[in-house]
Order: sequence, then structure tokens, then C-alpha cells
Amino acid sequence: MPLDRPGLIATYRRLWPYLWPHGRGDLQRRIFLAFGLLMLAKAATMVMPFTFKWATDALVAATEKSAPASVPAGLISAPFLLIGLYGLSRVAMAAMTQVRDGLFAKVAMHAVRRLALLTFEHMHRLSLRFHLERKTGGLTRVLERGRNGIEELSRLMVLTLVPTIVELALVLGILAYEFDWLYSAVVATMIAAYLGFTWKATEWRIGIRRRMNNSDTDATTKAVDSLLNYETVKYFGAESRETARYDASMEKYEKASTQTYVSLAVLNAGQAVIFTLGMTAVMALAARDIMAGRTTIGGFVLVNTMLVQLSMPLNFMGMIYREIKQALVDIDDMFRIIDRNPEIADRPGAPVLAVPAGTVRFEDVRFAYNPERPILRGVSFEVPAGRTVAIVGPSGAGKSTLSRLLFRFYEPQAGRITIDGQDIAAVRQDSLRAAIGMVPQDTVLFNDTIGYNIRYGRWDASEAEVREAARLAQIDRFIESLPEGYETPVGERGLKLSGGEKQRVAIARTILKSPPILVLDEATSALDSFTEREIQAALDRVSRDRTTLVIAHRLSTVVNADEILVLDQGRIVERGDHPTLLTQGGVYAALWDRQRQADAAREALKQAEDEKSLRAHSAPEPQPVG
Ligand SMILES: Nc1ncnc2c1ncn2[C@@H]1O[C@H](COP(=O)(O)OP(=O)(O)O)[C@@H](O)[C@H]1O
Ligand SMILES: [Mg+2]
Repeated sequence: MPLDRPGLIATYRRLWPYLWPHGRGDLQRRIFLAFGLLMLAKAATMVMPFTFKWATDALVAATEKSAPASVPAGLISAPFLLIGLYGLSRVAMAAMTQVRDGLFAKVAMHAVRRLALLTFEHMHRLSLRFHLERKTGGLTRVLERGRNGIEELSRLMVLTLVPTIVELALVLGILAYEFDWLYSAVVATMIAAYLGFTWKATEWRIGIRRRMNNSDTDATTKAVDSLLNYETVKYFGAESRETARYDASMEKYEKASTQTYVSLAVLNAGQAVIFTLGMTAVMALAARDIMAGRTTIGGFVLVNTMLVQLSMPLNFMGMIYREIKQALVDIDDMFRIIDRNPEIADRPGAPVLAVPAGTVRFEDVRFAYNPERPILRGVSFEVPAGRTVAIVGPSGAGKSTLSRLLFRFYEPQAGRITIDGQDIAAVRQDSLRAAIGMVPQDTVLFNDTIGYNIRYGRWDASEAEVREAARLAQIDRFIESLPEGYETPVGERGLKLSGGEKQRVAIARTILKSPPILVLDEATSALDSFTEREIQAALDRVSRDRTTLVIAHRLSTVVNADEILVLDQGRIVERGDHPTLLTQGGVYAALWDRQRQADAAREALKQAEDEKSLRAHSAPEPQPVG
């Protein structure tokens, strides 16, 4: 069977070390045993038609009282014994096949597990850019399909394809030996025609099935997207539009699925015709030989039984071809991910980052996500150890990009970033990331308990440390008010918590991590002013004595910073502390005036509401810092 693109041999060669694992003698023995059983099962399969033949001849002899030549002496009087042997070989065949499948399952699943793990690990090693470019769910799909593919491929090859080939060869040999070469020639021609037809028809069906799968995926994506946007759909009263969109995909799916069934009918009908032609021809040959006295009635039964037996594995050939081809594509997708070089990799022998003080320096950093559109055009600044530097500027100025560069999610095209004098590109990534804590604007939580999510900051933290971190992040009271306390599930992505609660969980886990360097990326901008004040207190406490880079949207939260940088269009346009910047009367001063006016207006409007919310929250006044 010709297989294009990911070659069967090439893929098998890569899979081989996993299917034949070094140092796992137990698994290797299993493979030997499975193969032994396979051969035994095939021998039993071949014995079966013979017992049938002998039993028939014995019965004929018993009724005619004349011994036919083909029956071994001594067994003539025992047709019942032969029937018993027939039953036994059937049972033996079935039992050995099942035991073999069971034995091999462990080998296949072991390979699946090792490769899935390798891929998963590698996915985490690939860059943020790679992950952002992938469709959501796309990677998990590759993993899932690859897993199934390995299982399918190894099972189909070892348990179905190879045995079928062995069986075909045995049948052809036996026919030539028992009768004459003409029988083998007829059967061989039939098999060739059968496989050729199956291959052509299956190729044609693969295209149809692909269309069906595509429309299925399309329909599912639309449904998921639409349901995820449940609220948006309601805001815009777009239910009927969504339904129509879904129906358009379903219509395509309907068409393609219908075609799949029709094509299956064509495949089955064609196979039946080819097989029956071959079988009739062989039976005619046998009838001719019986009449010429060259063989017995048993011989007629033998060819018939053997061919009927053969029809079963042949029938699966189309499916096997299709599944193997699909499995190869799926496994290839998985290998492609494993083959992808991480964009950001540790240099060989890279040392661990040492952070005796925690001074962060950006030196003339230039960066662009896409070459056509520079984001940072030469940014230099220093956050002295233990100090706080704030970065302000319009949205899209490149503020978050600075934090991504510091984490080394991307690498600058020019310039360098150092921590205590060490270029972050030259040290190990794990040590770099261990030294920095991040409280992002949008916190996503794991779909587990609150306790789990806080503990994520430092896995070996004690219960008391977790509680202390929660207390410092001012979320302890909230957690204790929940009936399940720290064991409360937060829901997918943490959706069961409000923005402020999620944010405080993020702060608590960063406190637990206790890194020497801290990045707060608009950690409070999505919150209402009451929650913001409350969280600001928690943040101020965390950043004390730590090198802190604050990315802020609201200037009132950065007035105490040691230095404020105003970033605009990829350049630092002003720098200094709050009073200095105000007296300069530049961009910052203008921003400050504008925000103060806006804040004043908002405060006036919201004062009543704020007071209400203060009472409703029944939380204490934010504690003074210091
Ligand atoms: N992964 C990305 N690929 C391409 N462009 C990006 C990517 N992330 C951010 N950008 C662009 O870079 C610019 C700066 O983004 P960012 O640093 O997030 O801005 P902000 O100052 O608001 O935090 C924006 O114009 C944004 O569209
Ligand atoms: Mg940002």
C-alpha cells in the first residue's frame, strides 16, 4: 500500500525506540510473547479448515463405507473427534488473539505515555509567540490525536496488518500445496484486485471524510465560540444570527456525512463483487477436481472455509489503510511540535542567575514583534535594588512588552537587559523566572481550589505560610467567609471569583513566591476605585524592600515611586519623580491634570455609590501603609 507524506517507514523508525523501549525487558518480552501468540493463532486458523475438511471426509466415508484417500488413517472412525478438534482450534484462535491484544496493549500505552509526556514538556518549552499564534485548543488537539495515533498505528500494524499478510501468504501456500498453483493464482488475483479497489475507493473516501471532519470541526468551533460569548450574544440579541451561522456549518456536515455513507456502500458492494468472483472461481475449480477424482468433498469444504475465513481480515483492509494513514498524519503533527526548536533556549552551560541585590537595567533595548512595526526604539533605565520605578504611558506604548522582555518571553533585537550585571539572555531561564514575581492585569487561575492557586506560588509552602500570604494580600477574610474556605473551587480560569478577588489571589501567590524582583503590570487598572485602594495597600506592602517595576495606568498609584518613566511610541520621553515631573510641565503634568479632573468628576458622581459599596463590603478601611 503506497502511503504518501509522512512515510510509514520513517514514522515507524521514530516510533521504534518507544515501542521497543531500552531497559524495559518486561515490555520487550511482552512483544516477543505477543508475536509468538500471533503465529500460534495463525497456525490454529490454518488448522481449522483442515479439521473441517477431515470431518467432512470422515462423514462421507462413514456414510459410503469407502475410505477417502485424504483422511489420515485412524481418524476415519472418529468424525466426532474431528469436530471436537475443529471447535478446539476455533477457541484456541480466539483466545490467543485476545491474550495477544491484552499483552500488546501495555506496550502501546507505554509508548503513548512517553511520547505524550515528551510533547507536553516540549510545548511548555516553546515560546509565548508560538503559543499566541496557535488557536486555542489546537495544541491539546494535537496531543490528543497524536496519542490516539500512536496507539492505533502500533496496534493496527502489529495486531492486524502483519497477521493478515501472514495469513494471506499461508493461504496461498496451502492452496498450492493441497491443490495446485491455479488455485493460488486465482486467489492471488482476487486479493490483488480486492486490495487495489479498496485502496482507490478508500483514497476517494478519505477526501469525503476530510470534508466531513472539517465541517464538523467548523460547526463545533462555532458552537463553542457562540456559547462562550453567551452574554455578548444576549447583549446584541443575536441568537437567530448565531443559529443561522451554526446551521450553515451543519448543512455542510449533513452533505458530507451523507456522502460518507454512500461511498461506504460503494466500497462494500465492490469488495463483495470482487471477493465473490474469486471465491466462485475457486469453488468451480474444486468442483471440477472432485468430478475428475483429484480431490474429495472435504477439499471443496476446505477451500470454501479458508476463503470465508480470509474475507474477514480483507474486509478490514480499507479501514486499516485509512486509519494507518490518519494515524501517520496525527503522529507526524506531534513530531513536528517536538521538532520545533524553542525560540528561546538556554545557551549551553548557561549559569544560574545570582541575585545578591536585584538591580534591573535596560540598556538601549530595541524590540519589535514584527519587523515592520518597532515597539521599543531604544529604552534605557535602571531600577536600583530595592527601589520602585513606575512606567506610565498611553495604552499600546509597549509597557507590558517591557515586562515580557524581562521575563525573556521574547528577546530584544538590540540592546540588553541585565540583573545585577548579568545579561538575562546568558543565564538559565528557570533561574531568571524564579527571581521575578509577576502580578498581571488579567489573572487567570487554575480550575482548582483557592488554596491550590495560592500555593502555586511556592509548592512546598506550609499551611501557615499560605494563610500568612493570604492575610498580607488581604484576602484572608474573604476566604474565611466562604463555606469551604481554602477548599473553594474557583471555576474555569477563576471565573467564580470577582476581578478584585482573583487579583488578590495573584498577589498572595506572588507573596508566597517571595521573589527579589517584582513586576506589577497594571495590577489594579481593571478594578473599581474601592477595590483598587484596598489592593494598593497590599501591593505597597509586597513591593517594600523589593526591586519593583510598576506599570501603571492610573497615575495616582505611582506618586510614591522613586522614579517615573513616561513611555510614548517606544521611547522614554520624560523621567523623574512625581514632583519633578509636575514642575517640568510636560506630558506627565498634562496627563496628571487630565486624570485628576476626570477623577474628581467621577468621584463626585460616584460618591454616593462608593459609600453604599463601602457599607456593603463590610470590610475594614484600607490599612495605612507603613
Ligand atoms: N504578541 C504580539 N504580537 C504582535 N504585536 C503585539 C503583541 N503583543 C503586543 N503587541 C503590540 O505591541 C504594542 C505594545 O503592546 P503592550 O506592550 O502590551 O502595550 P501596553 O503599553 O499597553 O502594555 C501594541 O500595539 C500591541 O498591539
Ligand atoms: Mg499592557
